[in-house]
Amino acid sequence: MHIDDILLTMRDGKPQSDEAIRAFIDGLGDGSVSRPQAAAWLAFAYVHTLSASETTALTRAMTHSGDVLHWVDGPPLTDKHSTGGVGDKVSLILAPLWAELGFRVPMISGRGLGHTGGTLDKLESIPGYRCDRDVAALQDQLADVGVFITGQTGQLAPADQVLYGLRNETCTVPSIPLITGSILSKKLASGVSRLVLDVKTGSGAFMKQTDQAVALARTMVDVAKAAGLDCSALITAMDRPLGRAIGNAIEVEESIAVLKGEGPADLQTLVVELANHPQAASVLASGAAYERFARMVRAQGGSMDVPLLGSGVTEQVLVAERDGVVSCIDALDIGKAGFLLGAGRRRSEDAIDFGVGLWLDVEVGDVVVAGQPLVRILHRDTGLDEAVACVRSGIRVGETVDEHLPLIVDRVG
Ligand code: URA
Repeated sequence: MHIDDILLTMRDGKPQSDEAIRAFIDGLGDGSVSRPQAAAWLAFAYVHTLSASETTALTRAMTHSGDVLHWVDGPPLTDKHSTGGVGDKVSLILAPLWAELGFRVPMISGRGLGHTGGTLDKLESIPGYRCDRDVAALQDQLADVGVFITGQTGQLAPADQVLYGLRNETCTVPSIPLITGSILSKKLASGVSRLVLDVKTGSGAFMKQTDQAVALARTMVDVAKAAGLDCSALITAMDRPLGRAIGNAIEVEESIAVLKGEGPADLQTLVVELANHPQAASVLASGAAYERFARMVRAQGGSMDVPLLGSGVTEQVLVAERDGVVSCIDALDIGKAGFLLGAGRRRSEDAIDFGVGLWLDVEVGDVVVAGQPLVRILHRDTGLDEAVACVRSGIRVGETVDEHLPLIVDRVG
């Protein structure tokens, strides 16, 4: 099929055959579809949206745009994907926990963009940690340690790399069919058989409204199941940060605390809910998953012996200006503060500062007195004033607690 015919039917909002969708994706790979043509295709898909069968066809075509990994026989292969949030370090804990529970976890993760953090950035704050091991080395690591967390290779769903960049440039990212194709193509190409989705909702999430988050979860679960994946989703709160730590090294520190059976209750609860295993809570509490995490880090070149925090950062403490109750800790404001300090990046090629971040001394509902510490800001002067302004607008102390979401908002699948 010729791209002109495909674009004409897309422009007029007519249904696309599986063949037309495959031809578009193949054309991206062989260069016969130009960037302007691909941008037009995305804009038409965004405006007219795609049906369920078109979304399934898109996901399938993107999955097969590159290598599809196959693992040797063994324990079930399981993975999790979060749509991203502030303080979301769940993968660092859940992946080794699942390995401890007997699953194999070949986790292919992403980097942070904007105010949301990325699992790979957090792990790379551990000196030496490598996210670019080749497939043969990852095979060995999976057999030996039961878990790896690494980055996407150039050959895994390469169509997504092209489309995701173009979507950023054409303001077509927040489209349920396009997000579904993007996320699931990578997961299907990574060869897992079971996938748990953590779809965030609230100010710090991609999908601010719960009904949008549920619709995204439903589409992803349906398309994943149609592709043969055992898939379910939790819709979870991102109106406030998850846990107490926001940044990179500081989030690894908090993850290690939870892996050792300590750390904040909301983070522990979410990890256990996503693990969806009768022994998850007791294994997490026992601290056994920490040793699995340490083995994974060492296998990927990281050192567990070097302190992660402290080098060259200064701490500034923000205190409550009045007595009262913590009414709200807005995830978006806190995420922006971390970003302004240098913990996040604007463009994928930007460098980040692993050492800066924020530590929340309080949570929503805590009773505080004037002068009591609310937040510790780890900084290197860059962006400090704007970050302080974001924190001041995001943490409010008042008479009552604002309405906020339950940690687990809904379940799909
Ligand atoms: N994460 C992805 O990998 N793709 C999207 O489209 C959105 C979030």
